[in-house]
Amino acid sequence: MNALGAHLRDILAREGEITVARYMAEALGHPEHGYYIRRDPLGEAGDFTTAPEISQMFGELLGLWCVETWERMGAPARVVLAELGPGRGTLMADALRAARGRLAFREALALHLVETSPALRAEQARRLAGARAQWHEDIAQLPPGPTIVLANEFLDALPVRQFVRAPAGWRERVVVWNEDARHLEFSAGRSATTENIPSLPREAPDGAIVEFAPAASALVATLARRFAAEGGAALFVDYGYALSPGEARNWSGSLQAVRRHAFVDPLSDPGECDLTAHVDFAALGEAAQIAGCRAHGPVTQGAFLSALGIAARAETLAATAEPQARAVIAAALHRLTAVREMGALFKAFAVSDPRLQSLAGFP
Ligand SMILES: C[S@@+](CC[C@H](N)C(=O)[O-])C[C@H]1O[C@@H](n2cnc3c(N)ncnc32)[C@H](O)[C@@H]1O
Repeated sequence: MNALGAHLRDILAREGEITVARYMAEALGHPEHGYYIRRDPLGEAGDFTTAPEISQMFGELLGLWCVETWERMGAPARVVLAELGPGRGTLMADALRAARGRLAFREALALHLVETSPALRAEQARRLAGARAQWHEDIAQLPPGPTIVLANEFLDALPVRQFVRAPAGWRERVVVWNEDARHLEFSAGRSATTENIPSLPREAPDGAIVEFAPAASALVATLARRFAAEGGAALFVDYGYALSPGEARNWSGSLQAVRRHAFVDPLSDPGECDLTAHVDFAALGEAAQIAGCRAHGPVTQGAFLSALGIAARAETLAATAEPQARAVIAAALHRLTAVREMGALFKAFAVSDPRLQSLAGFP
């Protein structure tokens, strides 16, 4: 058993059970043994590959989206440009390069990165040398003022709570230690408490799992209050869903673990694999609106990047590329936008100051 597994077993010996949200928070963010704390998990040699690591086009288009959003905000003389969970810093490096020609924007911006991983902060510092970035643990530490936020595959790493429909009623889903089998396992918890949780669906069958992401909703609400007061917008790209009222749900929850580009058991090796849950964009839209902001989308990543002009950008890059590089650009365009690749599962969703009636890329 690894160090994090032993730590969790000690907690469970004392407390009996921990919520799925606490398990996720410990597995990803434990200050010593958490998955993100000491490693760079990205890329072919790591556990998973993200859109900015597939092609420079992704970060470049998001950079131009920031410039355009800043113009729609009235081109304030000072703007906080923040990225949440910047990974290796690739997206921001590409975004800043694409925005290089827009001098007034470059002069207005102050770059702030919200990142908890020391290993990835070091990588970001290397790639963004010269950008005068400042790092923070939490969005609460961002300086005041008009703000533009980017976050790719960030919300899916925030802890979710799960509730399971047991014969005796709803129970919070928990993680326990099975001493006989000597492993962690899921269980229906002791607590029937569902306070602070929106209503649970009456039509759910026995065994159904329903998920809520209070940390993601709280983050969106905090940003929304800030944008309503001081101006700004946030763009989130992530995989997730937006159920319309009455639409059929999946009753198995979406918590998943990935290691070396393959799905693994989320409990088998805590701290050694990435844990994520699909983002509930409808819930985030509601959180934004309650906090006084406008929600945009979600739209599919394919539609969003197409509306921002990814096909033309690919053509421009290909025009001066060697044949082999041209094939790489075409493959990246396909991977980012095709429905069977990342184009439909991933979605773009934005929250803005209500005075911003429209944002680039959203119909
Ligand atoms: C899946 S990676 C995405 C990286 C990057 N955005 C990309 O697209 O390549 C998640 C990122 O969020 C960071 N992260 C995870 N949980 C965080 C938290 N609670 N606060 C700040 N950063 C977090 C990770 O360290 C990592 O940089």
